[in-house]
Amino acid sequence: MCGIFGGVLKTGEISPLIYDGLKRLEYRGYDSVGFATIQDGALQVKKDAGRIDDVVQRLKMDSMPGSMGIGHTRWATHGAPEMVNAHPHTDCDGNLAVIHNGVIENFMELKEELLNKGHNFKSRTDTEIIAHLIEEELKGDIALDEAVLKSLRRLEGSYAIAVVSNSDPGKILCARNESPLVIGVSEKGTYCASDVPAMLPYTNKVVYLRNGEFATLDQDGYEIKLVSDGTVVERGLEEVTWSLEMAEKQGYPHFMLKEINEQPTSLRGSLRLQPQYLDLLTTLLDRGRDIFLIAAGTSYHACIAASYMFSRLARITAFPAISSEFIEQYGSSVGVDSVILCVSQSGETYDTLKAIDHARMRAGTVLGVTNSVGSTLTRVARAYIIQQSGPEIGVAATKTFTSQLMVLAQLALRLARMRGKVSQDEGDDFREKLLQVPDVVEETLSRHRDYVKSLVEKYSGERLFVFLGRGISSSTALEARLKLLELSYVPSLAYPAGESKHGPISIIEEGVPVIFVCPRGETRKDIVGSIMEMKARGAVIISVCEEGDREIIGLSDDVIEMPKGIHEILSPIPYVVPLQLFSYYLAVRKGLDPDKPRNLAKSVTVP
Ligand code: G6P
Repeated sequence: MCGIFGGVLKTGEISPLIYDGLKRLEYRGYDSVGFATIQDGALQVKKDAGRIDDVVQRLKMDSMPGSMGIGHTRWATHGAPEMVNAHPHTDCDGNLAVIHNGVIENFMELKEELLNKGHNFKSRTDTEIIAHLIEEELKGDIALDEAVLKSLRRLEGSYAIAVVSNSDPGKILCARNESPLVIGVSEKGTYCASDVPAMLPYTNKVVYLRNGEFATLDQDGYEIKLVSDGTVVERGLEEVTWSLEMAEKQGYPHFMLKEINEQPTSLRGSLRLQPQYLDLLTTLLDRGRDIFLIAAGTSYHACIAASYMFSRLARITAFPAISSEFIEQYGSSVGVDSVILCVSQSGETYDTLKAIDHARMRAGTVLGVTNSVGSTLTRVARAYIIQQSGPEIGVAATKTFTSQLMVLAQLALRLARMRGKVSQDEGDDFREKLLQVPDVVEETLSRHRDYVKSLVEKYSGERLFVFLGRGISSSTALEARLKLLELSYVPSLAYPAGESKHGPISIIEEGVPVIFVCPRGETRKDIVGSIMEMKARGAVIISVCEEGDREIIGLSDDVIEMPKGIHEILSPIPYVVPLQLFSYYLAVRKGLDPDKPRNLAKSVTVP
């Protein structure tokens, strides 16, 4: 996820506005920054890796000349955070500059085609191909906007882009497909940005570009066309009534709620991984004699879920281990045949990095799943996958958890196919279900937002909660309980349901709320017995189950009904969502700040 800001002014310099706009988008990315401005037909580009303030001051970017230009704050997805990979990217001759937010899936094949035509690439990014594609189209002696449109039609993946060129120096050309882009108009000029807050100091009159749309901006306004066939789209301006602070969170009161609601988008991002990296990790996992899944906190819960995925789909035993326990628990058995798959949102968790050091010392193969390009994990792992969730600001992990599950499920499926453990049809069916998950999450969010709020009202005075699930749902229960505990500080327990009779049941008395996670699947029939055991002791039963599951509904005091047809192995992704909302609203109801729970840090880089 990156930040884009651009503008064409009637008079005055654009660079101070780009600086200010990007500062307001810093939450979207912060590892590199770059500006391109045009004055008297000459394109000037400055960029480097580093925080916005440092780079802008060092390169004096806020005094770059020109009344029009674009700027970008990067959050790396392809290529490390280095100067060459920072945006804007230019064509071979430096006549045009492109900034981009998103992931171009077919960039490898396009790059090869362009290399064969003699184009000269400077970076390792997917974005740079866009500049060269446009350059190539311009050789056909067509107008810049036509060349951009033709290039866009060749892109697969997600993008918000902005292009400037000295061949048409009064215009910014921009487009959107699944990455946000908004246009704003004031008396002084026209702007584009990834998000409203960047332009709110200059205007509150905006128009949101939709997927598959292209826009031309000049100092007097904008024109929107469809990328597919160039048809002009008429859409007027809307007035934004948000304050600046509200706008940074896109109108949500907290980053956590914004991030919970972003999950359909972040999950779609996690379905767009580069296949060659997935293949590499799958091959290395396949070679392992012992497989360990290592992580801390929420990421550990993703590892527990992954151990079920690997076993159920690929018939592989993978041991989930808490990073801080790994060396004691399994360290002595790690050797050259061991594969250690480390899952870490930040890629910087101290305990996880210590476990990696140990594994590497013993010649184990270290692999990574992380959300942070350039993190320590990406430097020390033999191979890694970036989960593509976009930056997460709320301390409690939400969208990064569901994305981790999405990545791990894809790995499990590939392993299953590689090992011949699923038939072609079974594999295709699972893949189909995987692709539906973002829509299911979207439906869950819109269906349950208000209902979960009403449940919070009902249960806000409770002093203890218990979460139970069987099979892979025990990981959902553990994660739901962690959210509740860390955000609202209410004592709570989570167990695999079958284990609850070996101790936790002693805590149950009249009125204790027990939340059961019970999707359809192989564990569904066993959970009924656990519900009966709890009911018999006076527990109040809240179930998250499939809609129309009459038996579970009949046994429950309150029910969160989930859409039908979700594969059990994938169920933790949608099933955790209403429980994230429950923890969020409970914290808010108690007057706590869900973005900054006490005593906790987003990234724990100390022992
Ligand atoms: C901290 C955060 C958690 C996170 C854990 C592991 O405790 O508060 O949200 O799950 O660290 O972080 P990692 O970056 O390694 O996933």
